[in-house]
Amino acid sequence: MCGIIGYCGPKKTASILIEGLKRLEYRGYDSAGICIAGQGQFRIIKSKGKIKNLQNQLPDGLSGNYGIGHTRWATHGGVTDNNAHPHTDCAGKIAIAHNGIIENFEALKNILTHEGHKFQSETDSEVIAHLIEKYYKGNLEKAVKEAISLIKGTYGLVCMHVDEPGLIVGARNGSPLVMGIGENEMFLASDVTAIIAHTKQVVYIEDKEVVCITQNEFRTTDLNNREIEKEVEQVSWELQEIEKSGFSHFMEKEIFEQPESIKRAIIGRIVPELATAKLGGLNLSTNQLLNVERIKIIAAGTSFHAGLVAAYLLESIARLPCVAELASEVRYRNPIIERNSLYFAVSQSGETADTLYAMRELQRKGAIVLGICNVVGSSIARESNGGVYIHSGPEIAVASTKAFTSQISVFYLLCLLLSRMKDMSLETGSSFLENLQTIPINVGKILESRQKIKQLSKKYCHYKDFLFLGRGINYPVALEGALKLKEISYIHAEGYSAAEIKHGPIALINENTPSIVLVPDDRLREKIISNIKEIKARNGKVIALCVEGDEEIKKIADDTIEVPKVQEIFYPYVMIVPLQLFAYYSALELGRDVDQPRNLAKSVTVE
Ligand code: M6R
Repeated sequence: MCGIIGYCGPKKTASILIEGLKRLEYRGYDSAGICIAGQGQFRIIKSKGKIKNLQNQLPDGLSGNYGIGHTRWATHGGVTDNNAHPHTDCAGKIAIAHNGIIENFEALKNILTHEGHKFQSETDSEVIAHLIEKYYKGNLEKAVKEAISLIKGTYGLVCMHVDEPGLIVGARNGSPLVMGIGENEMFLASDVTAIIAHTKQVVYIEDKEVVCITQNEFRTTDLNNREIEKEVEQVSWELQEIEKSGFSHFMEKEIFEQPESIKRAIIGRIVPELATAKLGGLNLSTNQLLNVERIKIIAAGTSFHAGLVAAYLLESIARLPCVAELASEVRYRNPIIERNSLYFAVSQSGETADTLYAMRELQRKGAIVLGICNVVGSSIARESNGGVYIHSGPEIAVASTKAFTSQISVFYLLCLLLSRMKDMSLETGSSFLENLQTIPINVGKILESRQKIKQLSKKYCHYKDFLFLGRGINYPVALEGALKLKEISYIHAEGYSAAEIKHGPIALINENTPSIVLVPDDRLREKIISNIKEIKARNGKVIALCVEGDEEIKKIADDTIEVPKVQEIFYPYVMIVPLQLFAYYSALELGRDVDQPRNLAKSVTVE
């Protein structure tokens, strides 16, 4: 979604802003703009489309030593140069860039228009510039506070005033804002990736806080002007982690990182001699964990699919009733909080509005909600009652890959921990751990067989519709495989339980609708073979993911992708990686923008 960067310092401001915006590209955007301040005036350059369009419009000698930039993902108003940020007030003295949604913008705009303000764009954000103009009496910070006190909705905001050179005021409510402290320079950004090339010293701005930065100083206050002491934190990510490092795309890099990222999710969290796991961040005592009677997982998209795998796992192995639900549905359902229930909010970014707001609603009703997040210091990580980081490292591609395998890794550990507290024996626990620890090697083997998957993508990517079929713990993997294919290749794909096709989807089967069928050697194998035969009887093409050396499947499927044999409950790992590769190579073959697919944003911070 939208991205923000602000800079005060001696370097070439335009270059810093453009570089920051490029690092924010992964979030998804459709237009971009910058405002450079210097010599008593603002220079604003905005353009729809990619940042290179904006770069092409930058005049030579654009100088100035502070400025703000923005990537916009349209919500209110079409994708036009005019609707791109930064926006200004009537006099052109105030410039703002805004992430989030102003819910009462129409009412505010009506009042302001009535008072004589002239609007240039169709955006909700522009009202902020005019509100600040209305309240400005020589003090930008004060005017910003007055303006935001009237706003209903969410904002991550940066603004400047021509008459207060060298000052950027930032404010946050519901949309992330982070400040970076460099040497003789200061930054504001919607996420650390925009500034990590310059500094790792950051301060996370909280909701209802206002921050003022100049080249060498910062000050944070609340809306009542009380000073707030902030902790300066050190970002642990390295710059190369947010670069492609020789891969063609971030998605490719992230798929190939999985043997390592899975290890990182597990490492330091296992106790081999007791055949259990330690997850200190849960903040729950053994007694509290023993009292847990059911688990509920809330999430969106890929994280929801990881939650569905976890639900299957926790119910079948830890013998705890567990459901995964779409956060967007939970929030508005007036959910009932049952006694001794434990909730998990799963989110790679930790900023997904649906998940964040559902979590808050559950907490308001007294639930304990633990976060499973990747981004350290993200809203869900900070507001949850405890939790576990998945330590995937930055995930930049819009299509989530390594986060999925790391999220499920944390749930495998949780499952072991809870199971070992109850009925699971030391021997079974040890075998569980041994099997879990073989996963990075097995995932590595699949990555080595990428050529075969690439060939199959070439062969099949021109089909318009696909079915992805799996059962049991691999049913959510089928859903995730379909999501991957549709989001980056734009091929229509649906995931189903293989058993469900006879209840409707089989009507779609013909020679033009291939099915990708997950066939692990588990107890449902024979049933899935029957499903394959049903598809074949209707002239459907079948690409089967089967275990190495499964000759029977090779005979009945049109094509196969072989995966290493693993213990039954661990198949999601080895089944999802070929599907990620299949989606990646198909999108590549079709010439899609793999890392930034159309209409999508990495971190969905609006409802
Ligand atoms: O950051 P989150 O894990 O909360 O994001 C949730 C979804 O928006 C995300 O998984 C989305 O579905 C991805 N594009 C999937 O690849």
